[in-house]
Amino acid sequence: MNVLVTGGAGYIGSHSVAELLEAGHDVVVVDNLCNGSEQALRRVEGITGKSVSFEECDIRDRESLGRVFGNHDIDAVIHFAGLKAVGESVNVPLAYYDNNVHGTTVLCEAMAAAGVFKLVFSSSATVYGVEAPVPYQEDMPRGTTLNPYGTSKAMVETILEDLCKADDRWAVSLLRYFNPIGAHPSGLIGEDPQGIPNNLMPFISQVAIGRRDGLSIFGSDYPTEDGTCVRDYLHVVDLAVGHLKALERLSDPGVYTYNLGTGSGVSVLEMVKTFTEVTEVDVPYRFAPPRDGDLPAFWADSSKAQEELGWCAEKGLEEMMRDTWCWQSKNPEGYS
Ligand code: NAD
Ligand code: UD1
Repeated sequence: MNVLVTGGAGYIGSHSVAELLEAGHDVVVVDNLCNGSEQALRRVEGITGKSVSFEECDIRDRESLGRVFGNHDIDAVIHFAGLKAVGESVNVPLAYYDNNVHGTTVLCEAMAAAGVFKLVFSSSATVYGVEAPVPYQEDMPRGTTLNPYGTSKAMVETILEDLCKADDRWAVSLLRYFNPIGAHPSGLIGEDPQGIPNNLMPFISQVAIGRRDGLSIFGSDYPTEDGTCVRDYLHVVDLAVGHLKALERLSDPGVYTYNLGTGSGVSVLEMVKTFTEVTEVDVPYRFAPPRDGDLPAFWADSSKAQEELGWCAEKGLEEMMRDTWCWQSKNPEGYS
């Protein structure tokens, strides 16, 4: 297939481009580089020995996007492009709705105009909202989201469902990610957050490399085994393979929703402990007040992805830690 990947120069996108190329697909990346790096794509070319077409373009720019579809004979789209910082989304909600929601409608219009009706979308476990019991299952309703980022993901899911109801040429896969971490085993591509990381794993690895003094663990009194929050962390390469499988199975029209997680939860303290055991690098930490909007614990039921896509997460926590550290220690300042 000739696959257009929006946001392909970012963290999950670049790992997915590598898997697509390894599986023999051709790839065109569209990215405006607001949080991605062209370096990542050049390194993917180094890893795979294959070339990637890159179009620097904002998905909200109809004309440029139309030109990209005109210049390449695209069969399907994987849509990663979007903004993802939860705290920032509370302060600048319009930027999030414009980028994530409006960006997706412009993309779908460009796809339809080019006769492309296969789409894999990056959704998030956050759409289950605050009231869902664990483990999360795909047939649970979307719940109350607490910030514009989460709401934008839930809105896009609804829009894509409506689109499939209105026009039976569309085949859409909604992939609800849990907590992707880790990096390509080569250590050549990985997560390169700009500024102070919001997420746990890059914060831990930046403390370990000496870019930050210590980790603040948000909350120590949650109703979990050790009092710290529990999440379902999965290796980004497993997540990338999940995209490949979802894409390759996407033939009949309709909407297909899948959780992509490991199915088990790990606490923040266990994360720090495992990182230290695997890397032998100490990560100083202190307990801090809980972060607004954090849920105590959630993880995936990923049995639907296993049954229908033949996908399950294969890489364990130690491998996630080893690969994170390989990337961080080879690239202390990320791509810059
Ligand atoms: P990322 O920021 O590394 O990648 C997103 C890419 O999209 C970046 O390269 C950025 O430059 C590009 N982009 C943003 N807006 C664009 C626009 N308007 N036009 C063109 N390109 C644009 O993020 P990521 O972690 O790789 O996440 C990819 C997707 O997965 C996002 O949609 C994110 O919301 C979703 N997601 C991520 C996580 C996570 O934990 N990382 C969890 C659930 C869902
Ligand atoms: C967060 C977002 C979620 C988004 C996901 C991926 C929130 C409330 N949720 O998920 O919507 O889809 O990122 O971008 O922001 N932690 C610390 N110290 C830190 C950082 C994190 O203790 O410095 C803790 C958090 O309290 C949490 C756990 O580590 O319990 C994981 O945090 P994080 O990596 O930010 O992921 P989520 O909060 O699960």
